[in-house]
Amino acid sequence: MGAHSVFLILFSVIAIAIVVHGQGQAGFISIDCGSPPNINYVDTDTGISYTWDAPFINAGVNLNVSEEYGYPKNPVLPFPLADVRSFPQGNRNCYTLTPSDGKGNLYLIRASFMYGNYDGKNALPEFDLYVNVNFWTSVKLRNASENVIKEILSFAESDTIYVCLVNKGKGTPFISALELRPMNSSIYGTEFGRNVSLVLYQRWDTGYLNGTGRYQKDTYDRIWSPYSPVSWNTTMTTGYIDIFQSGYRPPDEVIKTAASPKSDDEPLELSWTSSDPDTRFYAYLYFAELENLKRNESREIKIFWNGSPVSGAFNPSPEYSMTVSNSRAFTGKDHWISVQKTAESTRPPILNAIEIFSAQSLDEFYTRIDDVQAIESIKSTYKVNKIWTGDPCSPRLFPWEGIGCSYNTSSYQIKSLNLSSSGLHGPIAFAFRNLSLLESLDLSNNNLKGIVPEFLADLKYLKSLNLKGNNLTGFIPRSLRKRATANGLALSVDEQNICHSRSCRDGNRIMVPIVVSTLVIILIAALAIICIMRRESKIRAYSGPLLPSGKRRFTYSEVSSITNNFNKVIGKGGFGIVYLGSLEDGTEIAVKMINDSSFGKSKGSSSSSSSSQVSKEFQVEAELLLTVHHRNLASFVGYCDDGRSMALIYEYMANGNLQDYLSSENAEDLSWEKRLHIAIDSAQGLEYLHHGCRPPIVHRDVKTANILLNDNLEAKIADFGLSKVFPEDDLSHVVTAVMGTPGYVDPEYYNTFKLNEKSDVYSFGIVLLELITGKRSIMKTDDGEKMNVVHYVEPFLKMGDIDGVVDPRLHGDFSSNSAWKFVEVAMSCVRDRGTNRPNTNQIVSDLKQCLAAELAREPKSNHEKKEVVKEKYTKTKSTVQNYSSNEYNSSSGSVSLSFGDYSTFGPMAR
Ligand SMILES: *[C@@H]1O[C@H](CO)[C@@H](O)[C@H](O)[C@H]1NC(C)=O
Ligand SMILES: *[C@@H]1O[C@H](CO)[C@@H](O)[C@H](O)[C@H]1NC(C)=O
Ligand SMILES: *[C@@H]1O[C@H](CO)[C@@H](O)[C@H](O)[C@H]1NC(C)=O
Ligand SMILES: *[C@@H]1O[C@H](CO)[C@@H](O)[C@H](O)[C@H]1NC(C)=O
Ligand SMILES: *[C@@H]1O[C@H](CO)[C@@H](O)[C@H](O)[C@H]1NC(C)=O
Ligand SMILES: *[C@@H]1O[C@H](CO)[C@@H](O)[C@H](O)[C@H]1NC(C)=O
Ligand SMILES: *[C@@H]1O[C@H](CO)[C@@H](O)[C@H](O)[C@H]1NC(C)=O
Ligand SMILES: *[C@@H]1O[C@H](CO)[C@@H](O)[C@H](O)[C@H]1NC(C)=O
Repeated sequence: MGAHSVFLILFSVIAIAIVVHGQGQAGFISIDCGSPPNINYVDTDTGISYTWDAPFINAGVNLNVSEEYGYPKNPVLPFPLADVRSFPQGNRNCYTLTPSDGKGNLYLIRASFMYGNYDGKNALPEFDLYVNVNFWTSVKLRNASENVIKEILSFAESDTIYVCLVNKGKGTPFISALELRPMNSSIYGTEFGRNVSLVLYQRWDTGYLNGTGRYQKDTYDRIWSPYSPVSWNTTMTTGYIDIFQSGYRPPDEVIKTAASPKSDDEPLELSWTSSDPDTRFYAYLYFAELENLKRNESREIKIFWNGSPVSGAFNPSPEYSMTVSNSRAFTGKDHWISVQKTAESTRPPILNAIEIFSAQSLDEFYTRIDDVQAIESIKSTYKVNKIWTGDPCSPRLFPWEGIGCSYNTSSYQIKSLNLSSSGLHGPIAFAFRNLSLLESLDLSNNNLKGIVPEFLADLKYLKSLNLKGNNLTGFIPRSLRKRATANGLALSVDEQNICHSRSCRDGNRIMVPIVVSTLVIILIAALAIICIMRRESKIRAYSGPLLPSGKRRFTYSEVSSITNNFNKVIGKGGFGIVYLGSLEDGTEIAVKMINDSSFGKSKGSSSSSSSSQVSKEFQVEAELLLTVHHRNLASFVGYCDDGRSMALIYEYMANGNLQDYLSSENAEDLSWEKRLHIAIDSAQGLEYLHHGCRPPIVHRDVKTANILLNDNLEAKIADFGLSKVFPEDDLSHVVTAVMGTPGYVDPEYYNTFKLNEKSDVYSFGIVLLELITGKRSIMKTDDGEKMNVVHYVEPFLKMGDIDGVVDPRLHGDFSSNSAWKFVEVAMSCVRDRGTNRPNTNQIVSDLKQCLAAELAREPKSNHEKKEVVKEKYTKTKSTVQNYSSNEYNSSSGSVSLSFGDYSTFGPMAR
């Protein structure tokens, strides 16, 4: 009831206060630690807007002070002190402040503490405060109602400032309020520049009459305490004193009162004793003349510290305030400041205000930035449930839990990381690799899944790696195994899940039936040549998605479970049916089951004695194929060869194949630019097979059905190399049989059986024509005849009618420059002699020019566009006619013979 009314009163005043005081607190951070969620209010005493503290910290618990000290019993209790955040867990808990002025600037940070028996234990805790990695001060409380205020002036070394409470075993740290105020960076200088912070010792309003200064009187919101020994008099003025002459800007109510000695000839003296004689003190004394001095009167002042002059003689100005400070630190046990009048002075000395600080060195080092970034990434990836706040290694007495650091250089390094039993989920994050000086990594007893990643071997100082008690699968990468055997890395894994590659093959091998072994011979023939030379660079070139479960070899039952019992068919091809599958983590994949009949013909052609050897080789080569990566090649991510079945597992491409896409409604939205991107993507995939591998890989079955599109419509070439691996025909015909798909087969290859990259280029030309026209490679004409897309395009080109060639679904929305160039590239690919066709490097570069032409197009109204296109017809007509009269005619002539009953030759599109 009482508390409620306090709230009501507060909030009604708050509404007004917001209007009055809402401005002017720019850069202030005012946190009421421990307040209920989402509370923002204006403190009626100070006009300062406080916020709740959860946005600044994610540790600790919120509690109210006990009834005895809180509302309504204690109605004068400042609102921010009514509740606290306390930190029973972790030995270092940090608030993260990000001042809006950023790094390099000077800030005042103030923390307030009132115990108020919030925990009911009636035991006063003692704990330490740090700013970032450097010690600030110890917090000691004399009784439960005392409001202890700690203040420090500190230059921000980075954009975030950590204010940390450190438990030193003398009770649970807590905090009531935390404030940050931007200061003028040119004031409060010391001879150490930015190498020290200034911890407030005393800030006195001498000659005090009323007021604490504070915001809004004090723009920096300093709190000025009254200081009036009985031997001092107070003088004051109601006149104007300019406080803006220097950056110190003492508030009016502080500067307009001053102390003077009761007896004219006495000095004003202040003394204090330091427990640590090495403590360096700085005093800032404020002066302004408050009296109207007569012409024959003067006030001249000198300041002494322990008898030595701190300043020359000076006269306080009646117009503005001035600040005098010691240029060299005061050190020693006893300190005695004396403000005296000089012999010439007719008036006694005065002192308007004084601040005394002790300097705190910023000599602690930070953790290496790479390590900080890596561990922060690990923390957020796994949502590590530990009190991990502030700098990981520093201050060195209180590193993060589970972290060990080396402290012997000018920046600290993470040397060991123990995250065992920390509830980690998911794959082993790459960030671990960035902890490059790690010597010991313990990830045991978590829920980590997926493979043991190869990058762990890059941690060259690693001496101990514990991965036990996780759900990791697959092989231990060779490089890591090597480290374990050669370099004395102590490696702990669960043997039942993870194979030490070699023993795994020998131990777990499943007897492979004869049919498979035959197949394997073919596989070897096909794959042994693939990209061996450049395997390394391929791995680096790979930028597609990695299969999160690093597993690559699957059993039949696993394949069955992945595909939900072969539930969803997403394609059919000559080799078998393609199913949609999904891994544990939800990654979708395509599983291509290989028909028995695909290799049935070879049954009995190999002896069973060699089958085990062959199986081993099969796995080796399949693993090798798994390393062929390019962003425009569909990733082959796994296989199954458990004897019952063979399957190939690919990354799943959400938008299916280009053939289906072009004939679906989606093609309505397939702009010219997107078509060009698809063309460039697939050309790059092909370029990689032809020129990125030594010896080159000839795809043999380039067609729109083998170009897959992901959800961003990025194109990837699928099934490369497979027509060699799984020929439908008899073994003896492998060399001579014409492979490929009707509509795409290179007539030269058909006639000569000579296979090279230019055969792929021909097929790719057909693909490009399909992209341009939206037609299939072989279409039915009105009179029921089959017609090749080359024949379809030809008459339009002769007439110079680009509109007739390009897919009508584009509604003329394309650059005609680009279109002519694109058609030209496509037609050059289907020239009848392979040697006259461009190579894939050339194609990629030409297609990029097409794209550039399209991108350079200025959006035009329909009318203007037509004009441009028309002009272009007449311009390019001659080129096209030349072109068609030379070899294009003859090319189409020979191709036309090949079509018709072509389907007997190769496997159909899946
Ligand atoms: C503290 O007191 C406030 C106001 O009375 C109340 O809303 C809040 O729930 C209390 N918090 C706790 C932790 O008891
Ligand atoms: C608590 O300590 C402060 C500072 O010593 C003192 O001013 C105050 O009177 C004390 N309060 C009680 C209740 O003892
Ligand atoms: C601050 O510390 C740095 C590094 O120790 C030193 O080079 C520099 O001179 C110091 N600056 C001052 C003003 O002491
Ligand atoms: C506080 O001091 C000012 C002069 O600095 C004076 O005008 C004002 O009346 C005083 N207020 C109180 C409450 O004494
Ligand atoms: C800081 O104080 C100096 C004088 O000491 C002044 O010239 C400067 O304008 C002040 N800067 C700001 C941001 O107020
Ligand atoms: C100090 O104050 C008292 C009483 O206000 C006054 O009598 C005395 O003259 C003052 N002393 C000086 C030096 O101003
Ligand atoms: C200053 O002059 C006044 C008269 O104007 C006189 O009363 C006073 O004694 C003089 N004071 C001093 C210190 O000479
Ligand atoms: C490993 O995964 C299986 C099934 O996914 C689960 O039943 C088991 O509890 C997991 N083991 C661990 C240690 O998390």
